[in-house]
Amino acid sequence: MNQIELIRAMPKAELHVHIEGTFEPELMFQIAQRNQIELPYKSVEEIKQAYNFHNLQSFLDIYYAGANVLIKEQDFYDLAWAYFEKCAEDNVIHTEMFFDPQTHTDRGVAFETVIHGLKRACDDAQTKLNISSHLIMCFLRHLSEEAAFETLEQALPYKNLIIGVGLDSSELGHPPSKFERVFAKAKAEGFLLVAHAGEEGPAEYVWEALDLLKVNRIDHGVRSEEDDVLMQRLIDEKMPLTVCPLSNLKLCVVDDMAQHNIRRLLEKGVHVTVNSDDPSYFGGYMNDNFIAIMEALNLDNDELKRLAINSFEASFISDEMKKVYIDQVNSLK
Ligand code: HPA
Ligand code: ZN
Repeated sequence: MNQIELIRAMPKAELHVHIEGTFEPELMFQIAQRNQIELPYKSVEEIKQAYNFHNLQSFLDIYYAGANVLIKEQDFYDLAWAYFEKCAEDNVIHTEMFFDPQTHTDRGVAFETVIHGLKRACDDAQTKLNISSHLIMCFLRHLSEEAAFETLEQALPYKNLIIGVGLDSSELGHPPSKFERVFAKAKAEGFLLVAHAGEEGPAEYVWEALDLLKVNRIDHGVRSEEDDVLMQRLIDEKMPLTVCPLSNLKLCVVDDMAQHNIRRLLEKGVHVTVNSDDPSYFGGYMNDNFIAIMEALNLDNDELKRLAINSFEASFISDEMKKVYIDQVNSLK
């Protein structure tokens, strides 16, 4: 099998995808129309032209504007279902997707509406597409600690539907330490923990995510390479980094895919995985991300398999299921 065939054939888990970031312009237009909400764009082409980002914030402004058209339970279902269809095409057989409740509750959409729509799509993905999934609720870090506590409170009745909590949105100026207490409470309630750190923010934010938030995985974390002591810690603890190559390129975290450090991180022994982040905005889903790094960094079949195996090892599925999927990857030639 050549590399492209292998990428397509491997079962994979996606561990870093924001469901609001899978919102394709065509579906956005359709939902805006049925909810009679005006979008600041006249056409799908005009939306796509706006997808020219120079940093994280320039993307977030557009991402939140798009999410404004999501109002009804069916909207959240349709959004997630469209993503699951992409997973099926890419052989992503397990996904742990983020959602941003505050983006919706702050507009008057009930928490229940969001979670029920997403959950119904997850159930259908299991029965109709044989794709398993978990939901991870993210706190928006540009909002207050108090707002995060309120969101955690709202989530408690749905605790059995949400596997973990995360931290996303504008990283610079909003260090993990701001959310130390709310993460401690979430942990006490039984949630698993992840946080975006070291995307635009410094290695120091990765330290804080590890030591103060006590996360199970780091989202992005590519700037960890700037700190040798941190690198050794990540390697020793087998701490997963959910890396998002096309996202890093689109948001100018790297200037050129040939300069992306995912291959170096892998070679140094860091537990890196490949993910799409906000695929509708960044130009590609899971396999597009694999193909982009394979081509730019000359990854061979063993390295590609290692990345797919890492995705299962770093996931929140049972050890038994991890072994089933890892054996499937290893059996590919
Ligand atoms: N970083 C931070 N917040 C986000 C992202 C991201 O890449 N995508 C959606 N929210
Ligand atoms: Zn992200």
